[in-house]
Amino acid sequence: RASKLVSYRALSRVTPSRAGQIRFNNAASSATTTAACTIVSPAPSPSMACSHYYNQAAVDAAAAKNSVLLTPASLLYSGRAADSHQVLRSAQYLQRELPVRIAHRVADFRALPFVVGCHPTLLAVHELYLRAFHILSNTPTLTEPEDEIQYSGLLRQLLDEHKDVVTMLAEGFRECGRHVRDSGLVRTFLDRTLTSRLGIRLLCEHHLALRQEKPDFVGIVGTKFCPGDLVESRAALVTRMCDMKYGQSPTIRVDGNGSKAAFSYIPQPIEYVLTELLKNAFRATVEFHRGRPGPVPEVRVTVANNDVDFVIRISDQGGGVPHEIADKIFDYNFSTAEASEQHESFFDRVSESRSSSSSMHGFGFGLPASLAYARYLGGALTFETMQGVGSDFYLRLRHIDGRGDTFRI
Ligand code: ADP
Ligand code: COI
Repeated sequence: RASKLVSYRALSRVTPSRAGQIRFNNAASSATTTAACTIVSPAPSPSMACSHYYNQAAVDAAAAKNSVLLTPASLLYSGRAADSHQVLRSAQYLQRELPVRIAHRVADFRALPFVVGCHPTLLAVHELYLRAFHILSNTPTLTEPEDEIQYSGLLRQLLDEHKDVVTMLAEGFRECGRHVRDSGLVRTFLDRTLTSRLGIRLLCEHHLALRQEKPDFVGIVGTKFCPGDLVESRAALVTRMCDMKYGQSPTIRVDGNGSKAAFSYIPQPIEYVLTELLKNAFRATVEFHRGRPGPVPEVRVTVANNDVDFVIRISDQGGGVPHEIADKIFDYNFSTAEASEQHESFFDRVSESRSSSSSMHGFGFGLPASLAYARYLGGALTFETMQGVGSDFYLRLRHIDGRGDTFRI
């Protein structure tokens, strides 16, 4: 037992600033940066730094395995009345599963074209995954409930260390994505990375949540999830952001037969998507009506629900999406935000005071990431727009306890 605890402590002492940090020999954000980088600690030579990324037999072995996906229903039923043994079993599943999933992420980083794989920010994300892989693969076998406590502490730390990954990917690809001729390659990489990361984080958060009693929740599954309430709470947040940026904001109206419905669902991904859609609707409304007298028109959210699916429609009168960009708005890194404001988001992230998700717009990741998440959840994200008038965005999802197949995490 004593030696196990020592190993856990040793692992958790490995902070990214010590083991995972990359020192770059050139300007940090140059688009054409070469691979000239060294690892600060331990300190290998530049050639070792390269083999550090590519010669990793343990990663290859784990990446060759398939992931074991879970349905939301299995999370719900196995998580009910979780005692310490069930929580231990959940941790044992993660101990087997996480190295495999993280090895898949590393394998995808290795397969990126050189110009992308060498970008400092993207290399830093690659490094974060390699580090997580080694830490999680080297945890002592979990056999006792006390082991699980240590393991959960490690998971919490890793979740926190990876919290800026999406912003880092957005920033990295904004600078070098255009150098890749095949834009489908970037899209495939980002769709897979973002959705697989979502799955990994959901599994970790589910395990951590099993250890706490929260009314109307089994782990991450809300048993009385109410879409209307979630819209109201996200709209309150976006209203504050919009007021801070523009000095005004639209009012919000929530209606539809599903707005007061309550059913089992996993709120986190919808929370993200709704926030992005509301920010876009608020921004379009305020910018389109800026300088006109009187209050800006409201944003209306309608929730429609039946036994199989539910749809959340966000309608704005923000002038619509211009014809010439309508087929680009779901592209990664496409944004009509001013370049200066996009840079602002980056420096906000660096100063760690804010992330891009806390600014009204930024890297052009909101819509493509939301589309990838909606599809991952077995749903869809579509829109209708009328130029000069406004837009309707539709998020369609399937019930997890309804008839038919659900997605797998
Ligand atoms: P970002 O908000 O960072 O620009 P998004 O991916 O969320 O990135 O949106 C991409 C672009 O789509 C926006 O810059 C904007 O031009 C357009 N767009 C999105 N939603 C709307 C909307 N409701 N009305 C008008 N244009 C929109
Ligand atoms: C991520 O958030 O990027 C992860 O993969 C989390 C995991 C390392 C625990």
